Amino acid sequence: MPLEKYQYLSNVWRDDIFKNKVVFCTGGAGTICSAQVRAMVHLGADACIIGRNVEKTENMAKDIATARKGAKVIGIGAVDVRKPELLQEAANRCAKELGSIDFVIAGAAGNFLATIEQISPNAMKSVIDIDVLGSYNTVKATLPYLQESAAKHRTDGKTEPANGTGGRIIFVSATLHYAGTPLQSHVSVAKAGVDAMAMSIAIEQGPKGLTSNIIAPGPIADTEGIDRLSKKETRERSYKAVPAGRYGTVKEIADATVYLFSDSGNFVNGETLVVDGGAWHTAGFANG
Ligand code: HXC
Repeated sequence: MPLEKYQYLSNVWRDDIFKNKVVFCTGGAGTICSAQVRAMVHLGADACIIGRNVEKTENMAKDIATARKGAKVIGIGAVDVRKPELLQEAANRCAKELGSIDFVIAGAAGNFLATIEQISPNAMKSVIDIDVLGSYNTVKATLPYLQESAAKHRTDGKTEPANGTGGRIIFVSATLHYAGTPLQSHVSVAKAGVDAMAMSIAIEQGPKGLTSNIIAPGPIADTEGIDRLSKKETRERSYKAVPAGRYGTVKEIADATVYLFSDSGNFVNGETLVVDGGAWHTAGFANG
């Protein structure tokens, strides 16, 4: 196995913590989400990734499957998260072929840089539909499976759940809406909606043993987000504005994912884990 495939992973985790578990991920062919799923698969999970582009999604599934000998990874392409019926079919297929859905990553997102003058009603609607309704559709399609998974490990409420809990959701959000970010009104609105939904689900579904959390990545190197959203010529200035002095890596988002889905995250619910090197705390930080 080529060593670089494991660079997304810290050494603190036992290598089978997600054995017999299944992760379902939208946006799974993208750079950030594929690293999140790859880490889970490396640590024992099987996976189903969902994308719009058939070839890209299927190829990524094959690539992720190399993270662990014997891993089963299904890539289901031609699924637009705006189409609830397609997502439901995909969730049903995942559960049928892999046995369950224990973890969900709602990662599909749409973005581009545009001022409010440049954003047409359809452009605004497209981003809200992909991010907010797409996340809703993802949860809706997988919720019965997540509840079933969580029920296996529910306790009387007085004790911690048994090891190997399932029934967990991570929404991949952003930090753009914590302040006013120029050229990002559409995404800021959408991600604020995603965060609000994640918190409501945490409270509603907590009694059923589910957790619902948010990972808010900052600027992450070598991602489609950075390619689309930051200009190459100002990138040096932009990463110097991050207190950590650099952009993040997909490994750091994968590690946050492993933490929240692992037993270490059992009691974390309705929270946002910001992984941005402190960037959003910096006055005047913008995409560059
Ligand atoms: C203004 C634009 C535009 C642009 C598209 N539109 N690009 N408007 N500036 N650069 C408009 C179109 O003209 C159209 O409006 C409407 O948006 C829908 O576009 P379509 O291409 O027809 O639709 P669709 O296929 O649904 O595209 C969705 C999309 C696109 C969001 C517009 O960018 C997309 O699919 N992106 C997915 C991949 C992606 O963005 N990944 C990166 C996520 S990164 P009209 O009125 O002409 O019909 C991320 C990180 C955030 O989210 C945090 C960073 C720190």
